[in-house]
Amino acid sequence: MSNVVFDISMSLDGYVTADGQTAEEPMGPGGDRLHTWMSSPEGQRLLEKEGGRLGAVICGRKTYDDSLPWWQAGGPTGPLGVPVIVVTHRPAEPYGVYRFATDVRDALARARELAEDRTVTVMGGASIGRQFLSAGLVDEVSLHVAPVVLGGGTRLFDEPLELRPTEVVDSAEALHLRFSVVSTGLASLPDEQDASAGRA
Ligand SMILES: NC(=O)c1ccc[n+]([C@@H]2O[C@H](COP(=O)([O-])OP(=O)(O)OC[C@H]3O[C@@H](n4cnc5c(N)ncnc54)[C@H](OP(=O)(O)O)[C@@H]3O)[C@@H](O)[C@H]2O)c1
Repeated sequence: MSNVVFDISMSLDGYVTADGQTAEEPMGPGGDRLHTWMSSPEGQRLLEKEGGRLGAVICGRKTYDDSLPWWQAGGPTGPLGVPVIVVTHRPAEPYGVYRFATDVRDALARARELAEDRTVTVMGGASIGRQFLSAGLVDEVSLHVAPVVLGGGTRLFDEPLELRPTEVVDSAEALHLRFSVVSTGLASLPDEQDASAGRA
């Protein structure tokens, strides 16, 4: 079965966009800095590596609406033409590489079908990523942490999550951190007594 990876770029202070988003500037003023790594040699190498095993992408409706002017009918992977499932309350007819699903589980079922045994990447935004995580649907988290503090914007994480680091790639443009998901939700974290016992 496909591996499900939540893959997103984040600022050092945990935001996936800057404040003040507009249609012309969907990442907000300065927010494009989060994606600078994509045009670096190390970024290109990572994207090629991931692209080779990518079977389907899932994104939220806001990410789709904001990005369509750039992605056009071919989607975020351009010539690879990887199918994109958009999670939305307002489903539309299939268009280009895009298909529409009305909840996260349906989106995942359709993405798995299209991906066969290749990777399903949940590319965000924050809302969709958090829902996949809290529903326990994500195997791995891949964070591209840009060396920039935005001071506000769309916050990524909002509830407990326990991860095990599996890979670190450093470059001048971003730290690329990969984790496997150990567990999600409040039950996953030790209480103070357990934590003290662990330190003793
Ligand atoms: N830093 C990065 O790497 C990165 C990556 C991706 C996106 N982004 C940015 O993140 C921003 C969007 O993030 P976001 O968190 O605001 O939004 P999002 O996750 O892209 O989309 C949220 C929208 O999806 C629909 N939706 C959410 N949950 C749903 C559910 N359970 N069932 C059906 N529909 C559901 C709703 O739209 P409707 O009710 O309208 O259908 C909701 O408003 C964009 O500006 C994008 O540029 C950044």
